Amino acid sequence: MINSISIIKKPRRILITGATSGIGLQAALNMLKSRHNVIIPCRNQIKVNKTIEKLSKVLPLDLDLTKSAEFPILDLADLKSLKSFVEVQIRRGSYIDSLVLNAGMQYTGSSEPRWSKQGFELTFATNHLSHQYLTKGLLPLLQKSQSPRIVITASEVHNPLSPGGRIGKAASLGELNGLKQGRGFEMLDGDDHFNADKAYKDSKLCNILFGRELFRRLKQSGNPFPVIAWAPGLVIPRDKGGFFRYSRSYNELGQIVFAFIARDLLHITETANNAGILLKKLATDTQYDKDEFVYWSNRLRGFGQMQFEQMDTSKESYNDDLAYNLWKLTDTLMDEYNSI
Ligand SMILES: NC(=O)c1ccc[n+]([C@@H]2O[C@H](COP(=O)([O-])OP(=O)(O)OC[C@H]3O[C@@H](n4cnc5c(N)ncnc54)[C@H](OP(=O)(O)O)[C@@H]3O)[C@@H](O)[C@H]2O)c1
Repeated sequence: MINSISIIKKPRRILITGATSGIGLQAALNMLKSRHNVIIPCRNQIKVNKTIEKLSKVLPLDLDLTKSAEFPILDLADLKSLKSFVEVQIRRGSYIDSLVLNAGMQYTGSSEPRWSKQGFELTFATNHLSHQYLTKGLLPLLQKSQSPRIVITASEVHNPLSPGGRIGKAASLGELNGLKQGRGFEMLDGDDHFNADKAYKDSKLCNILFGRELFRRLKQSGNPFPVIAWAPGLVIPRDKGGFFRYSRSYNELGQIVFAFIARDLLHITETANNAGILLKKLATDTQYDKDEFVYWSNRLRGFGQMQFEQMDTSKESYNDDLAYNLWKLTDTLMDEYNSI
């Protein structure tokens, strides 16, 4: 009994992407409050300073951020940055208990694709490619942990049957004909009409397929550990930052009206704080420590009512061949870069 209590209370060493704002920031805050040690990669020094400032304002005075948190530089949309980040972490050799792949972006409303440093469509590069790169690179550090775990922030919109997934073009990767072309593809399925909203939904479908394929590979290797994908619900902050900041620049009025209706009229949104608490739990609670791939969703049950429950994912996300091919083709892109 004493042993199990001490295991529960042992601080975890957690690397979380996308913790400079929104859900990730709130998750990191709650992790720190529970005395876990947190690594928060930030895309530049300005973000490092701002994140330290935001955390310092709300953390207990006796919590020394210099001891419990690290803020290395990492731009997820740049393979060069990812490569040097992974090299430094591996050289240092410290274990990682939870790898939380939370960063994500969308720029719905844009008719033109945006590109990562190496010329990959930006949503794909940030939301999927970077996270497969980090996972593969940091796996040796996870394997040093006594109870490793990976948590992936996906979204209900990966599922064409979900309320959000039904609006606009549905997520679908087809035969991955775009990805097969390599650098410069606009849509993963090979469609040459760019659609930013679908690109985001597709990237979230990639998150689920990636999680499932990752767990299959871990199991096959004989060293499985928990891989959890989850959906936080619709989170629209009141300030000008947050997840819809890029979309707002393409359609400001539309986004203001959408936010007002969803958040203030219908109450179908979740707060970043509540979503952050859920993410912190997924990354740290022993309840989730089962060697399996699972998907949890913070689902809307009615106006103002959210329910967090384990759920099935979309039909397409159960396609094992698709998951395998996505992994292999993504690997090819990374290998091409690593060999330069
Ligand atoms: N908000 C929602 O309604 C909603 C719904 C379902 C799923 N999600 C998912 O939840 C996750 C978190 O979203 P959020 O609502 O918390 O949005 P957010 O406030 O915009 O946070 C996104 C985070 O990702 C980081 N990021 C994006 N591109 C990056 C890059 N190239 N390099 C380094 N960091 C980068 C951002 O860093 P910077 O501060 O440097 O930009 C920020 O920390 C995402 O995966 C999103 O897809 C959100």
